[in-house]
Amino acid sequence: MPVWGQVISAHQVADLVAYIRAGLPSVPGATPAPVITGQGPAVEGALLYQRYGCVNCHGPNGLGGVPNPQSPDKAIPALSGADFFKEFNTDEKIIEIIRTGSVLGRAPIVSMPHWGGIIPDSQLRALVAYIKTLKTG
Ligand code: HEC
Repeated sequence: MPVWGQVISAHQVADLVAYIRAGLPSVPGATPAPVITGQGPAVEGALLYQRYGCVNCHGPNGLGGVPNPQSPDKAIPALSGADFFKEFNTDEKIIEIIRTGSVLGRAPIVSMPHWGGIIPDSQLRALVAYIKTLKTG
């Protein structure tokens, strides 16, 4: 963390604090899409996959490939394909990694955030149901 006191003035820091305390301004049209819950867990999970930003790291349809140059695989892993389902062969194993996250080495590196206490159990199960629809190869 840089020492911001040397970069921005106390006045600017106070302004920033006031801004953050006031909450983020509402952005017209930026309301997140409602999560549909009546059409089975896989449909709900697909929406949660977008909502929680899993898609930004694991790619559309869990295809992976987002670069992570400092990690051993050089890319964020896919959540589809034979290798994934061989390692994560039970719902519990998938839920466990989502809950705990996984820190890969030193910064700057992209790690798997831990979602325990953030994503409720019913939504974790929906995410797993969705991920299992991605099974290919
Ligand atoms: C900031 C990027 C990032 C976000 C956001 C993210 N992940 Fe991950 N995820 C990773 C990385 C990096 C790994 C690999 C960790 C490792 O190998 O130790 C990983 C691993 C996983 C794994 C295990 C796959 C494997 O082969 O190791 C699953 C399952 C998973 N993530 C699901 C999710 C879900 C579901 C979400 C959304 C709730 C999510 N991830 C959000 C970066 C992310």
